[in-house]
Amino acid sequence: MSRQIAGIISDLERILLDATTIQERVIAMAQEIQRDYADKELQVVCLMDGALFFMADLLRHINLPIRLHTLSVSSYDGGTQSSGTVQMPEKLLFDLSGKHVLLIDDILDSGLTLITVQERLRVECNPASLRTAILLDKQRPRSFDVSIEYIGFEIEDAFVVGYGMDYQGHYRHLPCIGVLNPNHFPQI
Ligand code: IMP
Ligand code: MG
Repeated sequence: MSRQIAGIISDLERILLDATTIQERVIAMAQEIQRDYADKELQVVCLMDGALFFMADLLRHINLPIRLHTLSVSSYDGGTQSSGTVQMPEKLLFDLSGKHVLLIDDILDSGLTLITVQERLRVECNPASLRTAILLDKQRPRSFDVSIEYIGFEIEDAFVVGYGMDYQGHYRHLPCIGVLNPNHFPQI
């Protein structure tokens, strides 16, 4: 690990998932998805920016025809709590009608983002099938009943960064996932 990354990692109170653990699980998820979609073309919709690193690693281990689409969504406004509304483009520019769609996101927190996007994709795009893959499932009470077919890890209810997930745009490039040190970030 470079000295620069090691310095940034010291902003973490603790590491929840190291890089090797993440990579092993992502490969296992890719193998499961490849088995489930054998002989099919997969239309991937990746929620940006948080799922960028997870998607990139996952898809490179799936040996199937894939078309990749991205959708920019935000609900956190750079902070550590959902704003309660999901911002996304007014018009979806991809044609998913009659196709097999895999929606990819980084983390399930309140569930608002995924339930909102799943509903829009079903209503506006009419896919043949829609499944969802996430890396992290935060263990917390939630009022939305979101169906997720592929889950990487269940984690405690804490604000995490790394491997795509950010705090005010920082830390996305960390190869591991951890909890920020509250002494550095008293507002968390
Ligand atoms: P939800 O709509 O409350 O489920 O939040 C989901 C979105 O918020 C995810 O797609 C992430 O981008 C972001 N998010 C939720 N929890 C965290 C976290 O602990 N760290 C960084 N981003 C998070
Ligand atoms: Mg996200």
